[in-house]
Amino acid sequence: MASGRKPLFETPVPRIDGAAKVTGAAHYPADEALTDVAFACLVTSTIARGRISSFDLEAARAVPGVLDILTHENLDWAVNSPTHLFGDPGTSTLETDQIWHDGQIIAVVTAESFEAAREAGAKVKVDYAEEIAADTFDAKDVAVERMKAGKQSIGDAAAAFAEAPVKIEQWYETPTQHHNAMELFNVTCAWDGPKLTVYEPSQNIVGAQHRMATQLGIDPADVRIVSRYVGGAFGAKGFASYSMWIAIAAKRVGRPVRLVASRDQGFSIATYRAETRHHVRLGADRDGKLLSYFHEGWELSSRASDFVTAGVSATAQIYACDNIETIVNIVHADRNSPGFMRAPPELPYMFALESALDELSEKLNVDPIELRRINDTQVSPLGGLPYSSRSLMQCYDQAAERFGWAARVPRPRSMRDGDWLVGYGCATACFPAIIGPAAARVSLFGDGKAKIGLAGHEIGTGAYTLVAIAAAKSLGIAVADIEVAMGDSSLPPVSIAGGSSNAASTAHVIAKACEDIRRKLAEAAVADSGPFHTLDPDALRLEDGLLVGPGNASEPIADAIARCGGEIEVEAENIPAGLPADTMARLHRGQSILLGGRARKDVIGYAFGAQFVEVRVHAQTCEIRAPRAVAAFAAGTIVNPMAAHSQLMGGVIWGISSALHEATEIDPRKARYINDNFGDYMIPVNADVPSVDVIMVPEEDDRINPLGIKGVGEVGIVGMNAAVANAVYHATGRRIRQLPVKIEKLL
Ligand code: MOS
Repeated sequence: MASGRKPLFETPVPRIDGAAKVTGAAHYPADEALTDVAFACLVTSTIARGRISSFDLEAARAVPGVLDILTHENLDWAVNSPTHLFGDPGTSTLETDQIWHDGQIIAVVTAESFEAAREAGAKVKVDYAEEIAADTFDAKDVAVERMKAGKQSIGDAAAAFAEAPVKIEQWYETPTQHHNAMELFNVTCAWDGPKLTVYEPSQNIVGAQHRMATQLGIDPADVRIVSRYVGGAFGAKGFASYSMWIAIAAKRVGRPVRLVASRDQGFSIATYRAETRHHVRLGADRDGKLLSYFHEGWELSSRASDFVTAGVSATAQIYACDNIETIVNIVHADRNSPGFMRAPPELPYMFALESALDELSEKLNVDPIELRRINDTQVSPLGGLPYSSRSLMQCYDQAAERFGWAARVPRPRSMRDGDWLVGYGCATACFPAIIGPAAARVSLFGDGKAKIGLAGHEIGTGAYTLVAIAAAKSLGIAVADIEVAMGDSSLPPVSIAGGSSNAASTAHVIAKACEDIRRKLAEAAVADSGPFHTLDPDALRLEDGLLVGPGNASEPIADAIARCGGEIEVEAENIPAGLPADTMARLHRGQSILLGGRARKDVIGYAFGAQFVEVRVHAQTCEIRAPRAVAAFAAGTIVNPMAAHSQLMGGVIWGISSALHEATEIDPRKARYINDNFGDYMIPVNADVPSVDVIMVPEEDDRINPLGIKGVGEVGIVGMNAAVANAVYHATGRRIRQLPVKIEKLL
């Protein structure tokens, strides 16, 4: 950055959109006021595999206010079939009679009111030719396929394991989980001639625009996505495949149509975190040095999709080891397609590795933190690339100190408080530092205020505020003097808010645009007879509302802007170093090319953390409590410590939830989700998570990207599953290897 000052972002800034959100002024997509809106209700299949034989729509059509019922039998649009994340066939589809999974969309009822649509939806009668469905691992008739993704090998893991003096060999499992964002899945589609406006909560706005155009076979320039606020995304709102049916429904009735899907429908019309299974072998010498690491994973998917997270790509490079072999398998069953959910690869795979390491530490009689220290590395064991920065042990040391780890008595079942067995557990968190391309428009006005526009995503992370902070730092003006417009595909494109990339992607393009503005102001200033006459434009900087030069030369920014015609507008594009030259062209076509983790040729980039948790298990009832957690994270530059703290704390809480509460239960007879509601899908309330202490370990990293930003969206959730299970083992002497840890597994 040419400002001459290291861009430090140390000041906590309250959200600039906070007041709008808590007063209802912030319009989420389903809040957008439109006239003459009709309402849609989805009808979903009650079988998981087979074909639709016939519909009986008579009773449904007779409901007063019903306008239309769309089914595969009367679909009059030559659609391109909905596709999944990377172009795989989608499964939430109604264009044929085929049923891929329970809860698949098979009809869309449109009516004058939500109530009428819902009533008619319940009256749609369907006859099926049903086949026996496979629900999950071990069901008859699943198809298992070994994936290229996840195949890694160095040294000879099998031979090294055979010779290792200390060994662990175990199986671990993580359950199906659903995002369950507060905001229900929804979309509103409005046509104006050939132009389609789509109000849809999206973490991938240009992606959604081009996807809709492709599916409907229309010009992308005719599709506008509006998504100013998103009520939680977590990976589920990047690739909505149901929106196209609402666009078609709206065309058929000649009115805007709004769908707000029900909570239970959200379990089957969108993606989820698939269940996983792990076979892990660790071999070590007697001092704890890892000699061999073997990890085979299985991940559930739909019949149609090849989506796997292949989290061994992360686990295989966290610790030094000369002999590593990893394998990943996909298991196809009669289910809807899974997808991204907060730290998709790292959460399940690190549960397996960090649980196995805890088992190894006990066998070795080495403290769990020391075992991580013994095997700590600053280079990848796969190929030797250096980490751009890695502060894992600093995280462990700071969190251990704050937590009071020194008071831990290593032997299981040796700490007790009355009727409660007390356990301390810890585990490593990691997440790749990812960045993507972005464009932004910045206007600086004569009064020293600025306006910024970009098709960025506020998915609850504080993205508006982050953009304003980045601009305020670069322009030397106050956050309060900056207005930010986002969430609209008519603004300059921004890559998907996924992979914790948003902070890095947007902060860099804002810095670039503001640097263009500084340069324009500086060049005009040195060409003029004023205080900067004949100075080097690169010696001028924007600070505290002033244009500042060497020595004492300065002038109010308003004077500098006046010299440039009273207003400056720039539009900048940023392709992060290491991405191909056509990255921006592809972004304009809706493709987000992201770079990070191990994809670079010079360094690998990861954020790290150390999770600590105390659990208490009741000696008689086995009730499990988690009274306190302490977690430390190092993620490079923290743009807004207030929002980052919230992100990390939210991650830790969700990690505890994942460990102790969350699982989507499946009825094996029908391959159907059972607890698809907030009453039965367990999530923690305040009383379940009394104390979470988050430490942000300072970390400067000038190799990861110019601003040193790694991102904090996902790292906070990783590792806590294992930390909890390890703590439960320490409390009780019972090792739970199948999440979530529940009373019944301890009884
Ligand atoms: Mo995240 S699972 O990349 O939205």
